[in-house]
Amino acid sequence: MERTLIIIKPDAVQRGLTGEIIRRFEARGLRIIGMKFLQVSEALAKKHYEVHTDKPFFGSLVEYITSSPVVVMALEGTGAVQAARNTIGATKPNEALAGTIRGDLGLEIGRNLVHGSDSVENGQIEVANFFSDDELVSWARNTDAWIFE
Ligand code: RTP
Ligand code: MG
Repeated sequence: MERTLIIIKPDAVQRGLTGEIIRRFEARGLRIIGMKFLQVSEALAKKHYEVHTDKPFFGSLVEYITSSPVVVMALEGTGAVQAARNTIGATKPNEALAGTIRGDLGLEIGRNLVHGSDSVENGQIEVANFFSDDELVSWARNTDAWIFE
């Protein structure tokens, strides 16, 4: 089954939106297989956002994601990567559709509340960057048959 890494970013945790954001992914039907609260180290931030190393915003991006604790979740589901990206909304919150997390709760790109993996391959890689195998739980949810056909 497809996996995606979700990071509830420092601004969302500081604003008390952790529960609201988890609620939306749960309601979507995605199954939580890992979750923890941590402060991202500079090394992990640089690895996670490696593709953006040469971008002008890289420094502020690393500063933002390491500035305060985050909640990370590994989610599983049919088409989990695209489903989570759709629930999150466009990168710039002021362009994100109403009904999405960023479109409902945010305004600026550097305070866009949540991360979701951008490809199936990166979903696997990013989950492995943040979780060891023994931190991931393989379980059958009693509602699975009502969500997965
Ligand atoms: P994310 O990786 O955090 O889920 O966001 P995303 O896929 O929607 O956007 P991405 O292009 O991967 O950019 C990663 C994060 O970098 C910050 N950013 N700032 N100032 C800028 O032009 C700019 N562009 C991107 C955002 O915080 C974005 O989420
Ligand atoms: Mg991205």
